[in-house]
Order: sequence, then C-alpha cells, then structure tokens
Amino acid sequence: MADKSLNEIRTKFLKYFEKNDHKIVESSNLVPNNDPTLMFANSGMVQFKNVFTGLEKRDYQRATTSQKCVRAGGKHNDLENVGYTPRHHTFFEMLGNFSFGDYFKERGIELAWNLITKDFGLDKNRLYVTVFHEDDEAFNFWRKIAGFNDDRIIRIATSDNFWSMGETGPCGPCSEIFYDHGDHLKGGLPGTKEQDGDRFIEIWNLVFMQYEQVSKDKRIDLPKPSVDTGMGLERIAALLQGTHDNYQTDHFKKLISSISEVTKVKQEDKNISSFRVIADHLRASSFLLAEGVLPSNEGRGYVLRRIMRRGMRHSHLLGSKEPIFYKIFDSLKSEMSGNYPELERSQSLIKETLRMEEEKFLVLLDRGIKILNDEISKIDKVLPGDVAFKLYDTYGFPLDLTEDILKNKSLKVDNKKFDELMKKSKELAKKNWKGSGDSSEEAIWFSIKDKTGPTEFLGYESNQSESIVLNLIKDNKEIKSLSNGEKGMIITNQTPFYGESGGQLGDKGKIVSGNSVFEVEDTQKKTWRLICSLWIFENW
Ligand code: GLY
Repeated sequence: MADKSLNEIRTKFLKYFEKNDHKIVESSNLVPNNDPTLMFANSGMVQFKNVFTGLEKRDYQRATTSQKCVRAGGKHNDLENVGYTPRHHTFFEMLGNFSFGDYFKERGIELAWNLITKDFGLDKNRLYVTVFHEDDEAFNFWRKIAGFNDDRIIRIATSDNFWSMGETGPCGPCSEIFYDHGDHLKGGLPGTKEQDGDRFIEIWNLVFMQYEQVSKDKRIDLPKPSVDTGMGLERIAALLQGTHDNYQTDHFKKLISSISEVTKVKQEDKNISSFRVIADHLRASSFLLAEGVLPSNEGRGYVLRRIMRRGMRHSHLLGSKEPIFYKIFDSLKSEMSGNYPELERSQSLIKETLRMEEEKFLVLLDRGIKILNDEISKIDKVLPGDVAFKLYDTYGFPLDLTEDILKNKSLKVDNKKFDELMKKSKELAKKNWKGSGDSSEEAIWFSIKDKTGPTEFLGYESNQSESIVLNLIKDNKEIKSLSNGEKGMIITNQTPFYGESGGQLGDKGKIVSGNSVFEVEDTQKKTWRLICSLWIFENW
C-alpha cells in the first residue's frame, strides 16, 4: 500500500464503500447553498445536513464522498496554524461514509475497522480508539469487533468526542481512531497532556449522529440514529506513504517542487513554512475561485483574500518579485482536475484572478513594508493605531498582515485606536452619502449594513439556496413582519438572486418559507459598496 498515490487512496476508499452498498456522491460546493449559517463546507456531512434531520429525502440510505472542505473562518478555523505544523490545512478533502437511518454504531465500526486493517493493511498494534465517556455501547463494539483490550479504548469526557457541524445542526457522540507513528516522535495518547504531539495521530472520526442542535439551548433527537464519518485524505495518504507529515505525500511533493521550480528557491528548513503555506493556500484559493468566490473586502471574499494574501506574502518572503501563484496552478490542475473538473473548467478565471491579485498585492506589499519598517524603527513595543489605520486606509495594507509582520518581531498594534478610527471613517462615509445629492432616505442602508453585514452572492454556482432573513423593510423603515398581500423588502445573509447592476436587471423568483411563498419582483444592490441585495416581495 505504501506506493499508493493520494489520488489512488481516494479511489480505494470510495470503491470500498461502493462495494458495501454505498452510493458514491460527488463533493458538494465549498459554498454551502443548503446552509446559510456556514461560511464554507467544513466536513463531509454538510451536504447531507437536511437528510439527517429528515427534511430532505434521497433515493439512497448509504453514501460515500470525498468532500472539498475549507476551514478558515467560523467554528473550525485552522488558518493561523497552516505552514507551521505537518497537518493543518485551509483546504483539504474529507473522506466519509454516511448512513441515513440505516446502519448505526456496530456496522459503522465494523466497516471502518475492516477498511483500515484489511484493505489499507494498517498494523492493529498501532491503533487506539477513543469513545465519548458515557458511550458504553461503542466501547463494547470496539472490544468485540477489534478485539481490543480496555486500555486501547480511551474514554474522553470533553467536547473532543462530541461532534457538531457548527452552532446548530446534526450532532452526536463520536469515536476517533488514532495511529501510533512510533516513539521516535513526541506526543502522548489522546486525553493526556501531551496529546497534541506528532506521535498519536487521529486518522478517522466516526460520528454517531443522534441529535439536532436546534438553538443554543435546545437539542432534539434525529428521526433515526445515523452515521457520519470523516477521514482527512491528506492524513491517511501520509500514513499509507510512511510519513506523519501531510506535506511529504506525493501530492504535496509535486506542488512543492513546482514552487521551487517557479521561484528558483530550494526548500530548506529555514523556508519550509513558506513552501507549505503557498502549497496549501494555492489549493484553497483555486478551489474557491473555481466556485466564483472572488477576493473582496467582505464576507467569503474577504476570507479568500486573506488566504491569498497570506500565501502571496510567503512567495514574497521567498524572494519573488513577480506573481507566481498562477504559474504553480498548472501543477495543481494536473494533480486534481481528474477528480475536480471545475479546475479545468474555470482555469482562465482562476489564473487571471491569481495573477491580478498577486500583482496588486506585490506593489502594496513593497510600499507597506517600507512604511511599516520605517515606523517600527520609531517604536518600542506597540505600533500606534493611527499608523496601522493609515496603512490600511491609504495604502490598502490589511490589518492582519501588519499584525503578522509585527508578531515576528514580538510587537503589536494598538487595536483600540485602530477600531476607533475605523468607526469614525465609517461615520464620515455615511455623512458624505447624505450630502451627495442622492435621496437622504437611502442613508437607512448604512445602518442596516452595519447591523446585518453584506449579503453573499451565490448565483455563480446555484440558482437556489437556503438563507436567513436578516431584515424586513417597508417605506424606508425596518419592520418586524409583513402580512399577506403587503409589499416590502427582505435582506438575507446569502442569495442566488442577482442584484441589478452593470446594465443587468435584478433577478425575479420566489422565496419559500413553510407555507408562505413570496414573489420576488426585483432585486437591488444597496449602499455604495454594493453589498446588500434586496428582495421586493409580495406575500401570496
Ligand atoms: N463530520 C465528522 C468530522 O468532521 O470529523
């Protein structure tokens, strides 16, 4: 098995579950159009959320996927660690098998055990499992199926063994499988103080989905007990290729050698983080761009911009004076487009956006770094908030980048002052708007935008989505409800409706909630930054 590539391991996983009567289902998009509370798909179960809760029916009860995931914002956020550890990623693939009210704990454990010990050929003596501390059932199944003594089944009392997708959604106790990479590495068993080392690595999480978290204080039973599992493809590939380091797999080695070729810099201990950051961030950026998420200053586009710029700063650290991301993309495409044809389909958009963003950013970075270094020479420990604000406001130098550069020198920013100046600048923009000659009633959108944030546009990929209604407006006032027959406007947190702009009319369509149907007659973008898309509707 040690000679299997990451692509072959993915196939082997999916085929194993297909052989065991699971339907191979394609990865869903990273931007979840079935969940307005999530920034990005962060695990395999996201596309099945409504199947677990019984809201949606499919023609199969068992499924298997390799799901594109991004963890760079929200409940599961790994961004700051990427590059500095052997296993963190912003983008990764999660392999999973799912039972929607079909099998539960016993079969779930049996399927997992047979795959890793028989098909993947892992040494049973190197495996350990954890269970939620009250879950005697799972404990006993592990004893029976794996033949483990009690000391190999570790009871964990913390949230580590209770999995939830986010603040709400399906959830349940889980059981994790760990692999012992050997005593040449530091680290202790799960549940010990040393658990975060590199020796005992979690390879698979089996979630026994039993509940739905409806709100902070309310948890209900799912219609039927189900199974959701998650195994990081990069992690299992590392293990099967004889390493504990995901960046040493065939896949990452190819990307890293392409970075080396393009930058003409060799990977060494002193620059290893930069190579890893670039490889990881290129993957996340390319897959988000392929779905039509574009770098911007708000929402998902802002997270993308942070990922891109963090990566591009590392290419600058390697000495690149020219854009390189778009050149390395070809190597990513040849590695992954077989499974993800969107990389091939959207290659012009991806390459062009990568090139333009990096070009812009390199200019900004050079200028910002000069100013920042100059300012750093004048300070002792804290960079004044007005300097950080000027860098942001006048030179387009993002605050998190300033903070990142300062962190390396054990310095920090006066964030209080920065926030104060940011607030003042927003107020000024609002005042200027009022005096701009446009109708003063339009000023209402500023306060709404401050409260609700931007609306995410999902229409590049989908013509329907679930969304949260954030605000209702009628006669330029915020209102609590609209009755049958009334006209008004709705603002949601995300929408597939295109707001009128660039000579294109706003979309028409329907919004459905329970038994109510709202006829969308028009969609408009509001505020000068074009961020709120609105629906004018009539309740049928
Ligand atoms: N949904 C299982 C996991 O992400 O680990």
